Amino acid sequence: MSNDGVEQKKVALITGAGWWPDQSPGLGWALGAELAEAGYRVVLSDRELEPAERAASDLMAKGFTAEAAAIDVTDDGAVASAVDAVSARHGRLDAAVNAAALTLHRWGLKPFHEISAEQCQQEMAVTLDGALNISRAAIPHLLARGSGNLIFVASVLADEPAPRQAIYGLCKAALKSLTASLAAELGPQGIRVNAVSPGVMKTRVTDKMPPKYMDLFIARSALRRISEPREIAAVVRFLVSEQASYVNGQTIKVDGGGVGAM
Ligand SMILES: NC(=O)c1ccc[n+]([C@@H]2O[C@H](COP(=O)([O-])OP(=O)(O)OC[C@H]3O[C@@H](n4cnc5c(N)ncnc54)[C@H](O)[C@@H]3O)[C@@H](O)[C@H]2O)c1
Repeated sequence: MSNDGVEQKKVALITGAGWWPDQSPGLGWALGAELAEAGYRVVLSDRELEPAERAASDLMAKGFTAEAAAIDVTDDGAVASAVDAVSARHGRLDAAVNAAALTLHRWGLKPFHEISAEQCQQEMAVTLDGALNISRAAIPHLLARGSGNLIFVASVLADEPAPRQAIYGLCKAALKSLTASLAAELGPQGIRVNAVSPGVMKTRVTDKMPPKYMDLFIARSALRRISEPREIAAVVRFLVSEQASYVNGQTIKVDGGGVGAM
């Protein structure tokens, strides 16, 4: 901290960054690792504190500046308080990175008409409304500095047919649209807004992926493998860096070179 109480390091808040015992870490943890390595103080948040603490402890044990927070992205009031608290604690907020998402019935994917309206709402509340809530809360802090980055995590399913994952696909497509619109809105005030669109990554979600889907995804990637989460997070590290100072409103597909829809 400087004398005026402002943190010297840039501060990044990451959602959906928990790590569960005996499971692969997710993209949120990988984002924390990449941004911490780039010199950010990272605030790893998830709906529950314990998995966020596990992820933050791992980074701290590696010598990085990290902390954990419990933030349920569906609760707009709680999100606003939590984001304000992060900014107040460190005197700044430089990046808000939205990795939280929810897919119900994962790998027992149901036809669209068998998913209730309530279940659709639950998925959208996390994957789409959550990103809106974080953005609404973070933007005033970014505007106050006249700089900073908003990052969304879309998916290749934002652009491709997503049988039995229509809600997921529509949320991710909406995030792509949001990226372009907010970039246009906030660019004049010095804030950049970008997204990454991963193919399939090795996380706790894909740990349980049935081989029939895994084989399809591997065949779909020109590199004939799924990615490590750090390979996606590295692109976000670039996007929030000065090296990307003229990159704005973009959703960067990082899928090893897709060779066709599922
Ligand atoms: N794994 C993949 O192959 C893949 C591919 C494309 C995109 N993505 C996207 O990458 C991101 C990370 O996914 P992942 O694979 O690391 O695993 P994940 O799906 O487990 O990560 C989502 C995180 O969101 C959190 N979350 C759920 N509800 C929440 C809430 N109400 N408030 C706060 N957090 C909540 C979960 O606890 C979890 O940590 C997601 O946005 C996902 O859609 C993943």
